[in-house]
Order: sequence, then structure tokens, then C-alpha cells
Amino acid sequence: MNEREQGMTADRQAREGGAVAGAAACNLQGSVELIFERSVPGLHGYRFAALDIPEVAAEEVLPAALRREAPPLLPEVSEPEVARHYTALSTLNHHVEKSLYPLGSCTMKYNPKVNEELARDPRLAGLHPDAPESALQGILGLLWEFQRALATIVGMDAVSLHPAAGAQGEFLGMKLFRAYHRSRGNDKRTILIPDSAHGTNPASVVLSGFTPREVRSGPDGRIDPAALASAIDERTAGIMITNPNTLGLFEKNIEEIAARIHAVDGLVYMDGANLNALMGLALPGAMGVDAVHMNLHKTFSTPHGGGGPGAGPVGVKAALEPFLPVPVVTRDERGFHLDCERPRSIGRLHPYAGNIGVILRAHAYIRSLGPDGLAEVSRAALINANYLMRKVDSAFPVAKRETCMHEFVSSASWTREFGVRNVDVAKRLLDYGFHAPTVSFPLIVPDALMIEPTETETRGSLDRFAAALQAIAAEVRENPERVRSAPGCTRVGRLDEAEAARRLRVRWRPAGTGDADDRERG
Ligand SMILES: Cc1ncc(COP(=O)(O)O)c(C=O)c1O
Repeated sequence: MNEREQGMTADRQAREGGAVAGAAACNLQGSVELIFERSVPGLHGYRFAALDIPEVAAEEVLPAALRREAPPLLPEVSEPEVARHYTALSTLNHHVEKSLYPLGSCTMKYNPKVNEELARDPRLAGLHPDAPESALQGILGLLWEFQRALATIVGMDAVSLHPAAGAQGEFLGMKLFRAYHRSRGNDKRTILIPDSAHGTNPASVVLSGFTPREVRSGPDGRIDPAALASAIDERTAGIMITNPNTLGLFEKNIEEIAARIHAVDGLVYMDGANLNALMGLALPGAMGVDAVHMNLHKTFSTPHGGGGPGAGPVGVKAALEPFLPVPVVTRDERGFHLDCERPRSIGRLHPYAGNIGVILRAHAYIRSLGPDGLAEVSRAALINANYLMRKVDSAFPVAKRETCMHEFVSSASWTREFGVRNVDVAKRLLDYGFHAPTVSFPLIVPDALMIEPTETETRGSLDRFAAALQAIAAEVRENPERVRSAPGCTRVGRLDEAEAARRLRVRWRPAGTGDADDRERG
């Protein structure tokens, strides 16, 4: 057995030992090996057909520096084993096709598969972004139409598709505000941010060179008018409002707030990432908002989470349009163009015209649902959240007992008396087959459980989730240790979350091998 095979065997034995102990405790079946541990020298999953062209020796075409001296350490496995391995892995992590995923503020909903197919169509996915404009007329037409659809949904005059995430949309919004104020000879530097804002908001403000100033929420969980009045002055460049806010409440006074900000020549930015609460029901553009971003990877059919691609297009009023990043997709009698000749533009934000795969999914979603369908989506999001809120309230009291939007925030403060924290409740939910809600955010609710059921859940799944929370509340009183030590029925228990982030190990090496590089980076 060579060093590599010995390493694989040692890894397998170590992991099997752990898995058997775990299986006894949790009644889990089988072990999950690494694909490398399944490797059997000489086994093949695929064979190439015989060459029908003359074979050329690698030495003849590749310089020595680019040639391997030994074959790469790749696993040797049969095709069915590859399929089984990855199918087994896919069942270990929680995902939305397994069951409800109520991670507040993240909109972890089920997305139509047909839109995935469309985004992968080789006629679209295979387009080269540097192809000449004349060869890109189809996709440019689609982008132009999509910009208009988004502008209609949020009631704005123009849209930039460039931002690759919601937070980058916020950053773009702030850059546009800076450019606007500069063009008017203002050096306004302060952006007001309510304490119920999403966490990325203050970060985007700071990154773009502004100074954030916090505005307190009132007892109803919304921006306190008195606190706002005392925060506004001549230096106010604008306000950034998450609406619905992180308590899941609609900022009812947004028109009045906008008027006050406009009165000092400030601008209003709305974090519209949670547009599944508003589409077809309310228009940010009609509420006095000057710029708003949307998260296509939450609302419009691209799955959220897991670090996959996203898009956070920004809609703006006409006064901000000249500053939009280049290229802008435009149309004239000759066709569609990527317009870079915009002297007042802030410059480039994205190398091309945006994250096309995400845009394609969103375009298909919007076109297949139409205006009525989008409004129906929002209504379903609101009804589901309000239904669940009422069922959960008796187990974990809701922070603000009033009609919510697409999500609500409960508190697990009462469990402290039993030595149990909100994070324990969240972990115990995994044993019941559900993903955890967002915990400890927003900061203005002690021991928060932020719950977003999304519009794609049925009444049955909402009932099952509420029943699980009720059962956990009973366990907290009767058997707090069971909750404190959760999860008990997952492949691994509690992980050291800081260690996992600080010592990221993404590269396999046979046991007992490794180099300085490995030891440093883990
Ligand atoms: C309200 C709100 N704003 C901003 C963001 C940030 O979006 P992203 O993660 O795409 O940067 C999110 C993300 O879920 C959000 O919920």
C-alpha cells in the first residue's frame, strides 16, 4: 500500500469509528465517508473513447514547468458511488427541499426549477460578454426589458442591474447619493439609520465615505418621529430605511419621513431586499423613496444562501439616473446598446452588465407570474407570516403584537430562567427536522428568534413548525438539558463556529501528510 492509500484507509477507519459511536446515540444509519475515502485504486467511473486522431506526447506540446511528475490525488470511484455519495451529502445539510427553512430576513423559499433550466440554456449561458454588440442583441433586449419590469415593480424611473448582492446595491445607492450631493456643491456627510435596519446598512454607509447616525425606534417598533426630528440637520445627506424593517413591520410613516429628509435636500434610500412583502401591493417610488435595491436572490427565484451568486439591482428616481454605473443598457432605432458615454456616471461597479444567470431566473419568474401573480406572492408571504405568528406567540412571545409583513420576531427570554438560550431552541429545531430561525437579531429584541416562513409554505408545514416550537417550549420546562444539548439527532453536534470560520479547511490531504502551509491555514 502506498502512502496515499494508507492515508485513505486511516481516514476511513477514524471516521467510521466516530460515525458508529454517533449512530448508536442518534439512531443514524451508515457512515458518510469523504469521496477520497471511497477511492479504490484502479476503479473507474468513466472511460474516454479511443482517440480517432493521432496521439501527441505531452512533452511535445507542454513545457516541463507545466507538466505533472505524478498523477493528481483524485479519488477513483465508480459512477453509482459518485451519485450515492453526493446524494447522501445533500441530505446532511438542511435545505429548503428538505423542509421549512424559516431563517428570518433571508427568504429561504422554494424556487421554480423551470427557471434553473432556463438560466442554463446554452444559448444564453454560452454567450461571451465581450462579443460585439451586434451579436448580443437578444440578451441586451432582455436586459432592457428586465430593467423596465423592475422599475415598474418599485415605481422608479431607471434601474441598474450591476450590483452583485444586496449590500453592493446599498453601496451603489450611497455612491449615487455622494455624486448627487457633489454635483450640487454639497458636502453632506451624515446618513441616518434606524436601529431596526438590516446589519449591512451601516456597513455600506461607512464603506462609501458617509457617517452613519442611529435613529431610535419608538415603542411600536418603527422609526420614532421625535428621534428622527432631532437627528435631522443641514449635514443630513439622506436616510437608509429597511422597509419592512427587521421587526417585520411596515414603516407606516415613510412618506412623512421622506418629506422631512427632502426638506433639508437629503435623499431617501430604501433597503427593499424583502420585496416579497410589497410586490404588487406598494410602490416605494410613490412613498418618496429616491433609490431602492431589490435582492433577486431572495425574492425573484435565485436560491439564497450558501454563498451562491446574487444580484441586488438598484432602482432610482430621474435625478439620480445620470450617475448610474456604466455600461447602461439603452435602446434606439438601431437596436440595443451598452452605453459607456455617460460623463456624470460614477464609473464601473461590475465588469459587465450584471450577474446574468441570476437576472435570467428573475426575468422568467416575473414574466411567468405577471403583475397579478407577483401581488399574489406578496399576499401569500404576509398571510403565512401572520398565521404562523399567531400560532407561535403562546410558546415564544412575539416582540410586537400587531399585523406583521413577511416575517416576525419572537423572544426566547423566558427560557433563561431554565438555563436555556435562544440558540439552544434554534439547535433543538434541527432535531425536529426544521432549520433554525435567525437568532439574536435584530439586536433591539432580547433573545430574538426572527422567523420568516415565506410564501411557498403550505398551511400543513406551518402547523408542523408551530407544533415543533410548542413542543420545544414544553421541553424547556420539563427537560431543559435536552434542549441545551441539542442537536442530538444530526450527524454532528455543536460545532465550534469560530474555529470553522478561522481555520477553513477546504483541501483534502491523506492522513499523516501535510505541509507547513496546511498547519498554518488548517
Ligand atoms: C433586509 C436586507 N438587506 C440587505 C441584505 C443583504 O443582501 P446580500 O446578502 O445580498 O448582500 C439582506 C440579506 O438577506 C436583507 O435581508
